Amino acid sequence: NFSSHSTMSIYQATTSAPVNIACIKYWGKRNESLILPTNSSLSVTLSQDNLRSTTTARADPSFAADCLWLNGKVDPIKPGGRLHTCISEMKRLRTAFEAANPDQPKIASFNVHICSFNNFPTAAGLASSASGFAALVYALAKLYALPQTPEELSLIARRGSGSACRSLFGGFVAWDMGSDDVTGLDSKARQVASESHWPEMEALICVVNDAKKGTSSTSGMQRTVVTSALLQHRIGYVVPSRMADIESAIADKRFGDFAEITMRDSNQFHAVALDTYPPIFYMNDVSRAIIAIITEYNRLSDQPKAAYTYDAGPNAVIYALTPNVREIAQLVLYYFPQAEKVIIGGQEVEAALPEGFNEAVAKRWEVGSVKGLIHTRVGDGPRVLSDSEALLNAQGIPK
Ligand code: DP6
Repeated sequence: NFSSHSTMSIYQATTSAPVNIACIKYWGKRNESLILPTNSSLSVTLSQDNLRSTTTARADPSFAADCLWLNGKVDPIKPGGRLHTCISEMKRLRTAFEAANPDQPKIASFNVHICSFNNFPTAAGLASSASGFAALVYALAKLYALPQTPEELSLIARRGSGSACRSLFGGFVAWDMGSDDVTGLDSKARQVASESHWPEMEALICVVNDAKKGTSSTSGMQRTVVTSALLQHRIGYVVPSRMADIESAIADKRFGDFAEITMRDSNQFHAVALDTYPPIFYMNDVSRAIIAIITEYNRLSDQPKAAYTYDAGPNAVIYALTPNVREIAQLVLYYFPQAEKVIIGGQEVEAALPEGFNEAVAKRWEVGSVKGLIHTRVGDGPRVLSDSEALLNAQGIPK
């Protein structure tokens, strides 16, 4: 039929989503299949101008199967796996939407092609599952023209990777653990403050050289839940008050309190990893040297001016306010010389120590120990991109 062919519609959407770095760490599940956590958590969303996942999703009756390409390679969608869960949950929402809106095209049953790309190398050891699943869920939500809010979509991103639920919002984001163990419908992300609330908040990511392949978050936290007595203290007595305290520090923009809570929580997460049996080590000597340097830097003022935090790997993320970022970068450069120029605020950063700094807290490392610095800031939530940025070609195959 000539006319139906010439008016054939293309159902496609392209989105990007941000990375988030937790200040109060998620570590432990009370329900593995629903990905329900043992404690609430809170993160800062980083700017997509620097770090992002981009995803194009397309539905078409000619596609033989659902298919996903990640960074140019086919990523199998295993039945019952996390990708499969997210895609089928989104199709379920589209089916309900079509039932409620009979005028809408019937596309829920079409297979989808999804193409996703991270603009940062996996080798940098930066977690990409959070931004990746957030971009995937958001792309399908736009493709399907769904009415669901970011909070509702966070329920589905959570099924992909727990921390992904927090990447559905910009700014400062809590993941409330919830109490419904049957549906998990109250375990979702909530924006605590938007990206415009505290725009002076910046982050300096120190990409630390990592030779060995560490324990994955999923299996690491599983082992912690089973073996660590300290985790029970953390989830029962420590995290609840910390969540309340950091939310109020963010609301009032009290950086000193924000920083202390962030550093204490990173420390406790790594203590809980050490208390796991057999123990898990995510930080290395370079990570610990950065802790020593930031600790000495903070000693020089009455309130902390920098906050380190580490996830399930050796990279340091340092949170600081705009007026102090250059000084902190100079300090990092003094101990960790860089092969390439570091530019902040359009100006090259030179290695230097602040007045009164005790140089002996760490040795000066060789070039490459910190293999890169990424300077970024608090950023917005997922974005809808134009078709010119699509990752699929006219046939629905990766470009
Ligand atoms: C240390 O979200 O990667 O980064 O839910 O099993 O996919 P799964 O784990 P994941 O764990 C992240 C752990 C963390 C802390 C955090 O981001 O809160």
